[in-house]
Amino acid sequence: MRPKAELHLHIEGTLEPELVVELARRNRVDLPTFDVEAIRARYSFANLQSFLDVYYENMAVLRTEEDFYDLASAYLRRAAEQGVRHAEIFFDPQAHLSRGVPMDVVIGGLSAALKDGEASSALILCFLRDRGAEEAEQVLRTALAYRDHFIGVGLDSAEVGYPPSLFRRVFDIAAAEGLHRVAHAGEEGGPDYVWEALDVLRVERVDHGIRAMEDPQLVARLREERIPLTVCPLSNVRLRAVPSLRDHILPAMLDEGLVVTVNSDDPAYFGGYVEDNYAALRRELGMTEEQLDRIARNSFEAAFAYEG
Ligand code: HPA
Ligand code: ZN
Repeated sequence: MRPKAELHLHIEGTLEPELVVELARRNRVDLPTFDVEAIRARYSFANLQSFLDVYYENMAVLRTEEDFYDLASAYLRRAAEQGVRHAEIFFDPQAHLSRGVPMDVVIGGLSAALKDGEASSALILCFLRDRGAEEAEQVLRTALAYRDHFIGVGLDSAEVGYPPSLFRRVFDIAAAEGLHRVAHAGEEGGPDYVWEALDVLRVERVDHGIRAMEDPQLVARLREERIPLTVCPLSNVRLRAVPSLRDHILPAMLDEGLVVTVNSDDPAYFGGYVEDNYAALRRELGMTEEQLDRIARNSFEAAFAYEG
């Protein structure tokens, strides 16, 4: 299996149904069902929002530092089996703070797991764009007490209606702190969201970015500046950003000379971890080993903190 870096992975999206049930029992959280298959059966999504509803609901089982430790440790084990040598891992503190779980529990548990993991890894703190810019700033200020525990900031959750430009100030603060910057853009939102992420937020990578392909000038900009795109093929199919894997624009992105990487996004929900995404591209799109090698090389080039 080819070595690779994973750069677009939400740690909360690695919460497998088995762990949902285990943590619910451990923390005495009531669930609509304790049947793993019944939980999995809900994972049929019409769009990004219908996924996010389930994603946030399941997180209610994450309460203690140990829970976050177990979650991240399980991901790192799976990732190692899938050839991941380096992972830059998103986490969504607001999804926990809003339930009364404090920042030190979240960061403490995740950081301890990353420290104990075999692969090289780092955390990227994501703001939930649908909770607004003011709260994002508060969250960043709280998190700066743990500045050494994360390498950058990102922007995720519901995209359309929450353009990147709303978050100029908080990204300026992050930049001044020497933090890396990424943003989800061009998953459901159009190319204008990708332009704003580049021009206003000064992002160094674009998460998803598939709709950038609708704008040739934008494609030229991404190519010339070698801005990496963290594409998530199985996620795009499951969230119906593309009709099927066979229709995915990823091969065309590579042909355009873009720095494309392949990632799993929320593997517990979308039917596969990162190597499963590579395998699906080979199987469904007939991508060659040479193309997949290029993608894997891109993933190391696009990493912020790989020391390999
Ligand atoms: N898009 C936006 N927000 C998210 C995603 C995604 O694919 N996964 C988890 N939060
Ligand atoms: Zn994502």
